[in-house]
Amino acid sequence: MLAIYSTLLALALTLIASVVTAKTPVSNRPLWGLCYSPYNNDGSCPAYESVESGLNAVADVAKNIRLFSTDCSQLKFALKAITKNDLDMGVYAGLWITDGDQRKNSDVAAFIDAAKAYNSSGLIRGVSVGNEETFKNMDSAQVVGHINDVRSRLRGAGLGHIPVYTTDVDSHFTPEMAKASDVVNVNVYSMFDGSPITMDQAVQRVIARANHVRDSVAQGKKVRISESGWAAGGNLKGMPLTLENQQSYLRKFKCAAEKAGFEYFFFEAKNADWKKSMEQADYEYNFGVFDSNFGHKLDFSIKC
Ligand SMILES: *[C@@H]1O[C@H](CO)[C@@H](O)[C@H](O)[C@H]1NC(C)=O
Repeated sequence: MLAIYSTLLALALTLIASVVTAKTPVSNRPLWGLCYSPYNNDGSCPAYESVESGLNAVADVAKNIRLFSTDCSQLKFALKAITKNDLDMGVYAGLWITDGDQRKNSDVAAFIDAAKAYNSSGLIRGVSVGNEETFKNMDSAQVVGHINDVRSRLRGAGLGHIPVYTTDVDSHFTPEMAKASDVVNVNVYSMFDGSPITMDQAVQRVIARANHVRDSVAQGKKVRISESGWAAGGNLKGMPLTLENQQSYLRKFKCAAEKAGFEYFFFEAKNADWKKSMEQADYEYNFGVFDSNFGHKLDFSIKC
């Protein structure tokens, strides 16, 4: 009798433990990936605990995250939080190369440091050398030079197994950049097209552009949509930037991207209140699928 009770007790304790530690299984997460910038709302560097709670929220809805830089220890914090909380989430890192060699070198050094420390976890699935650099006026050839430089530094550090590539907008991506990249990462938006459109049109245009890159630019490399999204507010040439449209875009885009065979990062995890200190256009703050404190914003029950 006692044996039965203790067996039941053990069973109950196991159940409680599994409820407490349960993470959303990867197969139940609706999104392939989310872009994530972890900065505090005032633009300062986040504490580790803030990245940890943010990624716990992200892990309920997305299988992978994309980072844009290694500053503020964000890559190391993300790897630590994912490992410690057993979040089973792939990390697509980013190196910031817009602001000169000093910043680039510090990003590369921080990447190598974190990638070595967590090498056995296999969590890092790729690294982007820059983001929208030709869109920001760098030459395509210069971008290729940066990709090759980073690739050789990673090989030298024993990290040659990590895919290296750049990320740029579809209209600026060149065949040379595709050749130098292990995968073609394109940011594709129809929100900036300049005339109001329905969310069906918005999504169809994005998929058509990504298909064009796959057919005409990618040189046979895999194409991933590294950013797409729709702001829930702000002013942009009369575009219908509403929460309702963002919700609609999220649903339609997820289903259309998966149907067309694209991996994708939805832009972005949380509202970017941190950009207010940079005086960017107001729609820039409104792309989050969560609010700026990871509070509820959108409904993720999506049936395709
Ligand atoms: C990292 O792991 C890969 C295997 O996944 C291995 O080939 C490589 O040598 C390791 N690098 C370091 C620096 O430990």
